[in-house]
Amino acid sequence: MIYIKKISSAETYLVRQEVLRKGKSIETCYFDGDDDVTTAHFGLFQDERIIGVVSIFKATATLFTESDQFQIRGMAVLEEFQGKGFGERLLKEAEEYCWTQHAKVIWFNARESAVAFYKKSNYKILGDSFNIPDVGIHFVMHKKD
Ligand SMILES: CC(C)(COP(=O)(O)OP(=O)(O)OC[C@H]1O[C@@H](n2cnc3c(N)ncnc32)[C@H](O)[C@@H]1OP(=O)(O)O)[C@@H](O)C(=O)NCCC(=O)NCCS
Repeated sequence: MIYIKKISSAETYLVRQEVLRKGKSIETCYFDGDDDVTTAHFGLFQDERIIGVVSIFKATATLFTESDQFQIRGMAVLEEFQGKGFGERLLKEAEEYCWTQHAKVIWFNARESAVAFYKKSNYKILGDSFNIPDVGIHFVMHKKD
């Protein structure tokens, strides 16, 4: 059985580490604001096993003038489960959560390799690429309500 539910920040770390910080320490998987009351985390489970995670932060990017902005971070599906539609389900869950929080803009820093994935869900690139040290080339992507 596949299902998505809200999880704690701690429950995201192993999937973040395996997918986003491979070979790096668990501390590299802790994000500022992970435990803020305005932050939410979702996990996608197959039976009892967590196989994907996504987090939503109330965070403002100066690129946008809107006041109610939410940032998606830590989007990750375990490698063996990629390409089966689970990432899309998690992204949709995160997006719907943002709209219920009255988001005007949803934005994130997308890895170059994931840009096409986000475009399929109608997110658009804004501006030029930039480098995040130790992680790689990224683009800001967004969707407005
Ligand atoms: C990016 C990621 C979250 C996508 O999750 P996923 O479960 O593999 O993706 P899905 O199976 O839901 O894909 C949905 C659609 O996007 C496409 N897609 C997925 N990843 C893609 C990619 N990297 N490039 C191009 N298209 C991609 C799929 O083919 C599918 O298209 P379809 O509906 O036409 O078949 C996942 O591959 C992942 O964790 N990657 C490594 C970590 C990462 O890059 N995270 C994002 C950081 S910004």
